[in-house]
Amino acid sequence: MKKIRKDFLWGGAIAANQAEGAYNKDGRGLSTADIQPLIPGADPVDLHFNDLDSSTYEKYRRGAYFYPKRQGVHFYDRYQEYIDVLADMHVKTLRLSISWSRIFPNGDDAEPNEAGLAFYDRLFEYMKSKNIEPIVTIFHYEMPLNLVDKYGGWANRELIDLFVTYGQTVLNRYQDIVKYWILINQINLVHKESFASLGILTDQAHHYEQEKFQAVHHQFVASAKITEFAHKLNPTLQTGMMLADTLTAPYSCDPADVKLNFQRNRMQYFYSDVLLRGEYPEYALTYFEDHNIHLEITESEKVLLRNNTADFLAISYYWSNTVKASENTMDPNSIVKNPHLKANQWGWSINASGLYLCMSKYWDRYRVPMMVAENGIGFKDVLTSDHKVHDNYRIEYHQQHIAALLEAIHEGADIFAYCTWAPFDIISAGTAEMSKRYGFIYVDYDDEGNGSGKFHYKESFYWYRHVIDSNGQELDRTGE
Ligand code: BG6
Repeated sequence: MKKIRKDFLWGGAIAANQAEGAYNKDGRGLSTADIQPLIPGADPVDLHFNDLDSSTYEKYRRGAYFYPKRQGVHFYDRYQEYIDVLADMHVKTLRLSISWSRIFPNGDDAEPNEAGLAFYDRLFEYMKSKNIEPIVTIFHYEMPLNLVDKYGGWANRELIDLFVTYGQTVLNRYQDIVKYWILINQINLVHKESFASLGILTDQAHHYEQEKFQAVHHQFVASAKITEFAHKLNPTLQTGMMLADTLTAPYSCDPADVKLNFQRNRMQYFYSDVLLRGEYPEYALTYFEDHNIHLEITESEKVLLRNNTADFLAISYYWSNTVKASENTMDPNSIVKNPHLKANQWGWSINASGLYLCMSKYWDRYRVPMMVAENGIGFKDVLTSDHKVHDNYRIEYHQQHIAALLEAIHEGADIFAYCTWAPFDIISAGTAEMSKRYGFIYVDYDDEGNGSGKFHYKESFYWYRHVIDSNGQELDRTGE
């Protein structure tokens, strides 16, 4: 029986492109996230910013839209206020990302942008002064737009060196203040977040599926190179690979459902098998061959991958789904809703035991330290006239998920952090709405970016503070 670590890192997670804003300040270059428009009246479940072709890309890029991520929630200008409220919630960690185009505005600049680097100096120093440990992601759904225009995104091998230069620059600069580094956000979500993850335009690829996997291979190689660099630079640095948990359950005990489910899940382990075990597994090589996917993988890259596996596994967990052989294919987007589960208004199902299951499965498979990099659910909160948010639904969600996490720890999983997505309200990654709120702290901006920007503590704020203060032992205590 394992106990939760005494120094367990309770906290939250955000991403630069959803929070910082200041998209053209202090030398920052335009990024892929800056051209994601808010589409009023769009189906909230539809991710319109996925699988972009050139004409949609041009339309978004040059159209007269409102682009919420350009202003985010003004974290760049107001970071001290945000860190202050997080400190008031007693968080031990904040997972956040660095904006690539703040450091290398075009991605291929000869020198980094000093003003961008200086911003993160100030931010990390301020976090340190409040005893908040940074966990830093260096690629979270944004890349300099120039890398799409000039190189065609991650499908181009040149991206490896450009990303490594960026990675080395930030590791060098912040090595004394940042210990935990997540290199690529949700590296396995290439089928759901293809443009945000890879920056490839569908009609520019000869064989889209092949180019996606080639692009992922470039991300693997870049990750291994940065891990090699980090370990030489400073042995205390830890690099993490990150998965969005997408493990499914068979819809029924029909052997055909069970088999498809097994094969689907194995292709989701593919990403962590490469980065944690250090080699391309047989089943993946067979899958590529069967699907006419031919990857360029050199011998020296194989050695590099083998010798530079990641130190920890970061998982984001939101929902779970099922697969049915009569309806679904190997495409990870092809799923059947689990009829036993309720869902939020964006169709994201709620299943706390799925968190227990996935953390236990990953632990059994890899035996490396793990963290929950994201867990949460979006709701349309109502701010009452006396500035309260009665969000028992959020408390209930996290209560159940933390209980599931503790169960996985109890049975042996080595988990060192739990980060809720997101501790304060920020712009949604998928729909670019502000009204899809995840926070314990209400941030008064609306979908069009209007509002006072004031913070209001939701009921869940006090609840989470008790959880943190009791190191996860008090899950029922509400109120101040
Ligand atoms: C994760 C992403 O997949 O999901 C986050 O890493 C994102 O960036 C989160 O915000 C929730 O998704 P959404 O679309 O509701 O913001």
